[in-house]
Amino acid sequence: MPTISSILDAKFRQAIRSAFDMDADPLVGPAQNEKFGDYQANAAMSLAKTVAEKSGQKTNPRQVAEQVKSKLDLGDMASEISIAGPGFINVRLNPAWLSSLLAQAGASERLGVEPTATPQTVVVDYSGPNIAKELHVGHLRSTIIGDAVVRVLDFQGHRVIKQNHIGDWGTQFGRVILAIWHLCMAERRGDPEYPARTAKEVLSAVKQNDAVRRKQLIEEVARRQEEDYKSDPEGTQYFEPFLERYHADLERLLPAYQLVGAVEEAPEAQQYIVYERRAPRPLASVSKLVTSDLQKGVAANPLSQQEVNAWAGVRAATLESCQRIYDQLGVLLTRADEYGESRYNQMLPAVVDDLKHLGLATESEGAVAVFIDGPGKPPLLIEKAGGEGYLYATTDLAAIRYRVSVLHAQRVIYLVDARQANHFNQVFATARKAGWADDALLEHASFGTMLGEDGKPFKTRSGDTVKLKDLLDEAEERALKLASEKNAQLSDQAKRAIAHAVGIGAVKYSDLSKDRTSDYVFSWDRALAMDGNTAPYLQYAHARIRSIFRKAGDVQASSGQVRLESPLELALAKHLLRFGEVVELVARELKPHHLCNYLYELATRFSSFYENCPVLQSDEGTRASRLALCDLVARFLAKGLDLLGIEHPDQM
Ligand code: ARG
Repeated sequence: MPTISSILDAKFRQAIRSAFDMDADPLVGPAQNEKFGDYQANAAMSLAKTVAEKSGQKTNPRQVAEQVKSKLDLGDMASEISIAGPGFINVRLNPAWLSSLLAQAGASERLGVEPTATPQTVVVDYSGPNIAKELHVGHLRSTIIGDAVVRVLDFQGHRVIKQNHIGDWGTQFGRVILAIWHLCMAERRGDPEYPARTAKEVLSAVKQNDAVRRKQLIEEVARRQEEDYKSDPEGTQYFEPFLERYHADLERLLPAYQLVGAVEEAPEAQQYIVYERRAPRPLASVSKLVTSDLQKGVAANPLSQQEVNAWAGVRAATLESCQRIYDQLGVLLTRADEYGESRYNQMLPAVVDDLKHLGLATESEGAVAVFIDGPGKPPLLIEKAGGEGYLYATTDLAAIRYRVSVLHAQRVIYLVDARQANHFNQVFATARKAGWADDALLEHASFGTMLGEDGKPFKTRSGDTVKLKDLLDEAEERALKLASEKNAQLSDQAKRAIAHAVGIGAVKYSDLSKDRTSDYVFSWDRALAMDGNTAPYLQYAHARIRSIFRKAGDVQASSGQVRLESPLELALAKHLLRFGEVVELVARELKPHHLCNYLYELATRFSSFYENCPVLQSDEGTRASRLALCDLVARFLAKGLDLLGIEHPDQM
């Protein structure tokens, strides 16, 4: 069945047409104030001008509203149509009509929400972790907001293609190889802890701005690197023998990776020339050199094959570690959705060439750039100077071409944090100008930062980034404590299942319930609170209804008509029937918090109903009607939580 908004929209359009012989958007929406009605049409204000122009006669919005109203035929749908203020047309819905609509909704698995009439192919680009790193809280938002968006669009009947655009190419690549190399060499020297130890020291010297210490450390890294290289210039003892051990061991690789990153950050690294990979290079650019070597391909470099193997191993290990977290989080991503940067490697030269031919890209200080924001403004760099390789933007341009021309995407959604807004603006504008986007809608659904209670980016007490795994484990532990206090009688297994649903649900919901565009403060106490706009509150409301049915014994949820007699029942029913409109809103704006607010309001309305309207103690007819209403509320709650990717146990 269509949403109430869309039914009213059609009826109002018809009335406008027959009153003024013109087509206009009636601007239908839920009423601002329930005192005047349930829905309102706001078009009279703007319509008055057009009508006056067209007829050459003076009129005012109130008059226009009266004329529309006189042509409006809502049949048994409305119990009252009134005009308020300058010309708002208010509609109050008829309880009997609502009740039959509710019965229709209840009779369908989809709760009366029709699939979209215009299904699209939609690519959703989300999560996007970088290889050789574990997922951290920064990836949480993209992953769970993306997951909710995927679920909602899929529910609407779109053809959704999930893409995990992992960072497995470019600079990351060179850093990973170099990190493995450091580890192997350290092992060969009988000092396997060297990279971890040195990374810490370099980082702290950088942090404390201790130039003397920094210089010492960098000198030492440079000296070792040169020695190591000279001892094995042909790569015969190169890291192949050590590979087996390291590629699956992110725990060990991580510190070495940090060492590479830390060295690059130290300003001194520019000055220390090391004899590395057949070319003397400043230490800071060694990983870049490795990258460009590898981007040129195996043929150009005899060492490449073992490096490519190393990279593949690290990549696989990273994906495995991510997948474990996706599974714990209960998001839909699988290995099959991985479509990372390296997949576009072959297409990068053509991106640059084609943009040059189109006259969009120009050489600039040896590099290739697109001056997409006009001359004098920072351009979009697509190839590094000296043929040192391509960039993040080049890959994203190739990805757009692929998604639009091969996957036939009509909408491409990027869930990436707001700091990349400029990148996406430039990439989208370039793709459009090049004619690569066709009519596809390219959307950067950006989000802010997750903050700790101190208002600073969420960190551990010692100031490190929080690993996602640790955050999720802590959530489950905390929830287990709460569940054990509440449900001492349950088996351990049952408690653990509830703790998983509640803990993970709480973390996801505390994120999804905030408008994604702003930063938000994460607080354990608030996320896990049993009251307020939280997952546990909604899960509890759902479980409570299910417990009513357990108490009611043999009484099955009646599929019968719900009689909407008390104002609280009516308020609840009207809210239930807004579900489809909210799903549309979420799909349009890509903001799951609208659905969270809807569910919270639903649970609140249910709770006032349940406190004031006896269910099991009522006479038979009322009891059956109210049980049917309870059942509907539980089903809408469950469906809403499903769309958010949040579990809803029957018992809590
Ligand atoms: N790997 C990137 C990062 O960590 C996110 C990728 C987002 N998607 C994209 N198509 N650029 O910042």
